[in-house]
Amino acid sequence: MKKISVFATMLVLALIPFNTVYADGSPKLRADNIDEVLQAMTLQEKVELLVGRSDEEFVGSSDQMGHQMQFVAGAAGITTAIPRLGIPNTLFTDGPAGVHIDATREGVNRTFYATGFPVGSCLACTWNTALVEEVGKAIGNETREYGCDVLLGPGMNIHRNPLCGRNFEYYSEDPFVTGEMGTALVNGIQSQGVGVSAKHYAVNSQETERTRVDEQLSERALREIYLRGFERMVKKSHPWTIMSAYNRVNGVYAQGNHHLLTEILRDEWGFDGIVMTDWIGKRADLPIEQVLNAGNELMMPGYKVQEEDIYKALAEGRLSQDVLDRSVRRMLEYIVKTPRFKGYKFSDNPDLKAHAAITRQSSTEGMVLLKNNGALPFNESILGEYVALFGVCSYDFLSGGVGSGCVNVPYVVDMVTGFSNYDIKTTPQLTEIYRKYVDYAKVKLQMDKNPLMWFLDQGQPKLDEIEITERCIRHEVNEARAAIITIGRQAGEGIDRAVEGEFNLSSLERNMIQQVSDVFHEQGKPVVVVINSGSVIETASWRDLVDAILMAWQPGEEGGNAVADVLVGKANPSGRLTMTWPISVYDHWSTRNFPQDYDMYSYQRLESRNRPIKGITYTKHEEGIYVGYRYFDTYRKDVAYPFGYGLSYTTFEYSKPVVKLKDDAIEVKVTVTNTGNVAGKEVVQVYVHAPEGGMDKPAKELKAFAKTGMLAAGEKETLTMTIAKEDLASYDETAKAWVVAPGEYTFMTAQNVNDVKGEAKLMLK
Ligand code: BGC
Repeated sequence: MKKISVFATMLVLALIPFNTVYADGSPKLRADNIDEVLQAMTLQEKVELLVGRSDEEFVGSSDQMGHQMQFVAGAAGITTAIPRLGIPNTLFTDGPAGVHIDATREGVNRTFYATGFPVGSCLACTWNTALVEEVGKAIGNETREYGCDVLLGPGMNIHRNPLCGRNFEYYSEDPFVTGEMGTALVNGIQSQGVGVSAKHYAVNSQETERTRVDEQLSERALREIYLRGFERMVKKSHPWTIMSAYNRVNGVYAQGNHHLLTEILRDEWGFDGIVMTDWIGKRADLPIEQVLNAGNELMMPGYKVQEEDIYKALAEGRLSQDVLDRSVRRMLEYIVKTPRFKGYKFSDNPDLKAHAAITRQSSTEGMVLLKNNGALPFNESILGEYVALFGVCSYDFLSGGVGSGCVNVPYVVDMVTGFSNYDIKTTPQLTEIYRKYVDYAKVKLQMDKNPLMWFLDQGQPKLDEIEITERCIRHEVNEARAAIITIGRQAGEGIDRAVEGEFNLSSLERNMIQQVSDVFHEQGKPVVVVINSGSVIETASWRDLVDAILMAWQPGEEGGNAVADVLVGKANPSGRLTMTWPISVYDHWSTRNFPQDYDMYSYQRLESRNRPIKGITYTKHEEGIYVGYRYFDTYRKDVAYPFGYGLSYTTFEYSKPVVKLKDDAIEVKVTVTNTGNVAGKEVVQVYVHAPEGGMDKPAKELKAFAKTGMLAAGEKETLTMTIAKEDLASYDETAKAWVVAPGEYTFMTAQNVNDVKGEAKLMLK
């Protein structure tokens, strides 16, 4: 009964046009009367506007925090409506790889699927900001057409360590790449008249105890590595909102961190949107006035008790009326931009077909060819023939990660279908074994579900691998022209990845690669490994066994088609790594201070309530700025595949770079020629070596990149890249300032951080 009446009220309220003037004379919100509306607001209205609505009438019986049942089922959160003043509810939906809403609604006889785009790490590996912007436009369009106002993304945290469970949602270990990709996605999304919430600001680099871990790092590392990507994006694309992270940064929760949210974000970078908390609710150990004073306007998903806390803080003089009003004003400034406020009539019917084409193109372009001894692309004679597909993910391909960053997709193209679209068949016996197993394993998984791990149930779980006997492999080799082994990995919110079986291969996977390679190579037939994972895995111990390795990531719903596009040579791989692939995970400096093998249900968790435990309640960034290639390159450590690396089916030559100072920027020009036999695209990376004698600097830092268009064999293109002088600066902690050291700078044009093609020097004053 209660639900019906609440629903009826909501319906009536939703139907009232928001900018009509009422008989009671109260002003109706417009873009140009915010102060007037602010004055007309009661205290209760002000307070309610700062706290999201996750009361029962909005979330129904859902056990997921904030998960909405009103308006758009499955949206992640909602803000308060004040119909008297023409203020509508506004809606937030996850996430970085596409709109995450429920695919089905109670009593509604249709579906609400959204397009599954490549995960962040795959998108970044395209190094193609124009393409990422196109993806952003499509995601923004779906956000708007499904009736939401803000997309909770992009994920812009740094890949500090390969074990972080959410690296798939993020772009890179490098802040410049992160900033460029974030800018492109935000510009694309916001071009559609909806907003973003760039997240998780800041230093949310691990999932273990993410809601309370204290990330302890130097001011220099904070600014140069963890904030610089956000800074670039904020300045270049003006995001409507930012999401403050769960964790603490140098002892202070990000959501209550004045240094991060006001001094840096607003005062230094000029951010003029709102900051919302990540989905935490009330924190017992953080007074609400600290959150508001710090510059965090909105509490998400929002609980009544937080409103009571605001009243109390005001009454006791801990919170000033000015700060309250400042926060409310910023909320109103945000609200007048939203489609809901503008009365936009969404269709609930975005063009999923057109967006599927965009996702296929971006996923092929993000895939990285790690090894190729000539086996790829498959010769045309394979058309009409058989390949043997090993590994459960060949048949149950992972389109994305799990947790809030998943998308409820209409379908996932598996590799059987991807190949059959090229008239390449998969061997019948093996296909039947795996297909039957996949059916069985999915039912079993449902039975074994752990109700406490609901956040992992959002999205597609990875099924356990099965053992394929040598006898079976010997049967397959007679029919198949090639073997393809898919190694799959799943990861997501709340849990970091384990070393054994997640970063490293399991013994079952290792044996499979060994046995398939032995048997297929006996008959001179190639073996290709496809990695279907959002994050880096170990390759050094087994890569010599196989002929080719393709990092396919979790590339979205068109995954199987995209893999086939690359393997048959319809698409020439042009993805390049935006993170280092170490030989061993322990080679990363940060691994010494990264939590491992943490069982969240064990005594560790209880014990850590009473005393600080390394990696759980605090994480020291001993490595400072030496994250990723900045460490491996400077300290000359061998890696499996360096930052920036990726193979192509063609070859490229670089001209000598021409570097000039133009006003306050450095211009780098280089001509790239396709010297091979097939068309392809190349990514040119510009690394800078700073003059000696200044601050301690990494041997090289990426400061610019550009991707050519599709170059036919023999064709050339001149790329011009510009580096702002201030981008060469390092943060001097003593001077509390960004400093560009004077002296001779070396600008290197490179195919990856370990493969410099040309260099030029320039004196800077
Ligand atoms: C995640 C956010 C997400 C939010 C809403 C949180 O647990 O950390 O990334 O946007 O939930 O679903």
